[in-house]
Amino acid sequence: MFKMLFKLASLKAVLAAALLSVLFFNARAQSLNLIPKPVRLEPGEGNFVLNARTSIVLPAATDTGFASLFAARLKLATGFNLPLAVARSLGREPVAHLKHLKPGARNVIRLVQDENCLKSKGDEAYELEINSAGVTIRAARSAGWFYGMQTFMQLLSVGLVQNQKGDGYVIPAVFIEDYPRFKWRGLMVDVSRHFFNKDVIKRYIDQMAKYKLNTLHLHLTDNQGWRVAISSLPKLTDVGAWRVPRTGYWRGQKAPEPNEKATSGGFYTQEDIRELVAYGQQRFVEIVPEIDVPGHSLAMIAAYPELSCTKKPQQVLAGDPWNASRTNVLCAASDSVFIALDKVIGEIAQLFPSKYIHIGGDEVSRAYWDKCPVCQQKIKDEHLGSAEELQSYFLKRVAQIVLSKGKKPMGWYENLPGGLPDEMAVMSWKDSKGGLLSANKGQQVVMTPAFFTYLDFYQGDPYLENAIFTVNRLSTTFQFDPLPEGINAKNVLGGQGSLWTEQVPNERKLQSMTWPRAFALSEVLWSAGNKSDWNNFIRRVESHLPLLDREQVACSRYFYDAIVTATPGLNKEMLVKLSTEVEGLDIHYSFDDTDPDQYYPVYKGTPLSIPKGAQSIRVVTYRKGQQLGRLLKLPVTELQRRMPAK
Ligand code: ACM
Ligand code: ZN
Repeated sequence: MFKMLFKLASLKAVLAAALLSVLFFNARAQSLNLIPKPVRLEPGEGNFVLNARTSIVLPAATDTGFASLFAARLKLATGFNLPLAVARSLGREPVAHLKHLKPGARNVIRLVQDENCLKSKGDEAYELEINSAGVTIRAARSAGWFYGMQTFMQLLSVGLVQNQKGDGYVIPAVFIEDYPRFKWRGLMVDVSRHFFNKDVIKRYIDQMAKYKLNTLHLHLTDNQGWRVAISSLPKLTDVGAWRVPRTGYWRGQKAPEPNEKATSGGFYTQEDIRELVAYGQQRFVEIVPEIDVPGHSLAMIAAYPELSCTKKPQQVLAGDPWNASRTNVLCAASDSVFIALDKVIGEIAQLFPSKYIHIGGDEVSRAYWDKCPVCQQKIKDEHLGSAEELQSYFLKRVAQIVLSKGKKPMGWYENLPGGLPDEMAVMSWKDSKGGLLSANKGQQVVMTPAFFTYLDFYQGDPYLENAIFTVNRLSTTFQFDPLPEGINAKNVLGGQGSLWTEQVPNERKLQSMTWPRAFALSEVLWSAGNKSDWNNFIRRVESHLPLLDREQVACSRYFYDAIVTATPGLNKEMLVKLSTEVEGLDIHYSFDDTDPDQYYPVYKGTPLSIPKGAQSIRVVTYRKGQQLGRLLKLPVTELQRRMPAK
């Protein structure tokens, strides 16, 4: 009997130990808070300690630029000035300024060229192995090493745990195999509605690269400003880059006063562009330029009025109300338009090494073409059925110009009876349908359906934001699926978040509109599909917030805010429903015009009726005594506005 008890007890101990080790194992796996999640991650035994004596070892004859960047980032994170060295075993001439390192040396971060095991996964694939002896990053190409380094930097700096002696940083042992799901992992920045200088863009590129985003689409031209110098058409920036200064809500601004100077704006010189392109290349971020024609072209027309159908002088748009005397559309039939575009695209093709040049093509108001004798004559001469077909004709000609410069045209999807140029890659923006149709016709497609990926849409409660358009919460971006059912996946290059900047007047706002939603994009576009779970993702996002704070990158926390909706009760009276995107938050509320804290009533899930006389509801979220969401104060009249339409 005693024996039995003893056996049982020891069995229990073994089980408990096994359970503990499983828990420990899971806790460790989860504590590797990587964004995007790698394809395969196996936690190992022990730790690597990075200290002042760690060196970085490169294969000989490697471009050392990205490794120097890595060393610089390690220095910023740890203060250690780690030397770069060249592996001796490869028997090549060392790069002059680098030291040799013996094969088998410990305390090294070693980059190893591994052509065979990774070829099938592409140039960006890598394997990262960390154990107590050192770190190995295997890849076939520099891009793979670069992404291995980004992963290593996250493992180091998200927690930034010091060793006991306090002379190094602890990184858990792990084996990671990783490669991207899509090759186009993009963000678009509209630098027309607000101009962001090259330093802002460089910081933006830095941040993209840390999360393995690799394509920066610059929307360089629009009604509100032309942002790239074209030597053969200097007025595009002399005139087109400047508008009268206005601030605040972008719509309905005061029209320019007589003789008011256009002092607001800016542009990139060709030297700036070369600098940005090189900066991106070092970080494996390709810049794709967009020249948006024939619509969205008021800045170009302000510079060269002869390019519109009316040829009337105009000013760059400063948010002043639109009226019928103005057109933002290029004449679709005038030879001078195609001559100008040939010059512009010729210079753009020289400046940007990217394979694609984006030619816009969206939201064309065709009313002026209907009234323009030249456009009407062209419709007759080319046997076109309508002004819509004239739009197809225009885009096909511009696509030919792009091809003549050795580039591939890309454009926004528009549903035109005359179709889009066959050679044009398509960016699907209103939804995914345009992308689906185009991919299945054989065109290359980038998905940026507005509902999931537009980063100008607000991410919290509209009442607290100077909100335009509609909402796109972090949890919505997280549900972005670049491969809708029935699509020919091999024609989908990938996807992107698109940040239009009418309401983005400064860098902090630019950043906080991008992050954390770009974490979700990074996860969707890099990590294999359908494997991510929201709660796990949010935990990882939360673990990165202190890092972004340290790096002074603004990141929205609006995903902690309460979501307030109004709904009719049984007797059609108004009830208030409270919820959150993130699990595990307590929502505290008041109806008595006082600010709730964690001791106020907590919402239990049953919709609330409005007490007699209440003017407003105030709501705030907490977790473990810490306020996380913003205090929302909504007047009852605002709640009434939120009632579903009858
Ligand atoms: C767009 O949002 N007009 C492409
Ligand atoms: Zn015309």
